[in-house]
Amino acid sequence: MNRPRAASSWIGAVVLGVACTLLGQGAGTAADNKGSSLPPADYVRLVEPSVKVTVDALGGEVTRRSAEKARVAMVMLAAFAQYDLSGTDGAQRATLRDAALDTAARIKDKKYAEAVTQAKGLTKVAANPQARKEKVKLLGPVVDVDELMSQFRAPDKGGLDIENLFDKLAGVADGQLPAAALNDDLRLTAYRTAVAAELCKEHTPPQKAPLWQKLSDEMRLQAVRLAEAVQAKDGKAAFQAVEKLNASCNHCHREFR
Ligand code: HEC
Repeated sequence: MNRPRAASSWIGAVVLGVACTLLGQGAGTAADNKGSSLPPADYVRLVEPSVKVTVDALGGEVTRRSAEKARVAMVMLAAFAQYDLSGTDGAQRATLRDAALDTAARIKDKKYAEAVTQAKGLTKVAANPQARKEKVKLLGPVVDVDELMSQFRAPDKGGLDIENLFDKLAGVADGQLPAAALNDDLRLTAYRTAVAAELCKEHTPPQKAPLWQKLSDEMRLQAVRLAEAVQAKDGKAAFQAVEKLNASCNHCHREFR
């Protein structure tokens, strides 16, 4: 944000969502409830795209950036999976989390071929009843803020082009997002952003830690509002959420970057 924009084709470029419809969920309700940053139905829809990011990133000549992109996608998948381990699919989610983290570790060890094979199997891992149902700490041990933020960068910098997308959306003329933008890809991108914000919040900067936490919360809240507005096909509310979301990014970057 506040930087020159790379040319980006807007919808489409970003995240590789799966086309489906979602079960009804009222706008403006779940946003304030911490447990709802990632509805179960959308968790399921994030698995395949996450695998695809990793497999594609490791597909050609692997650079530092593409390895980072592949690894962060696996860590995010682990975060999506362990988002809620309390349901009947808890063992399945915990197993998938562990496998995704294992894949991330292989990428770190530069065992790219093994990582690709393992990643491809993630869409159909069988639940291990022994998998730990407690959340594993991700921010710190396996991912840092810089890596988390790398998802928002342009594709040529190892990102998913999310920052450019949000900037573009906030720049529409009449204060409301067009109907075509209110699609599954944007909703999933918004939930990805919300989960990234929650991870971000676990970081404690040496100074102004309360402000860091407040801005992480704001990022999460507006990302969920965006997702819910997209779901409700409310272009005005979606626009307002995008504006506030971008404000939270910019505020934090001014203070901490
Ligand atoms: C709570 C604070 C915080 C929030 C909120 C935040 N960021 Fe960041 N962001 C950072 C910090 C700190 C860095 C620098 C990380 C580093 O290099 O160590 C960063 C780096 C980045 C980068 C990498 C820039 C580069 O040099 O390549 C991008 C892109 C980015 N953020 C996008 C976003 C977007 C988009 C949002 C909102 C949707 C956002 N950030 C919200 C703290 C934040």
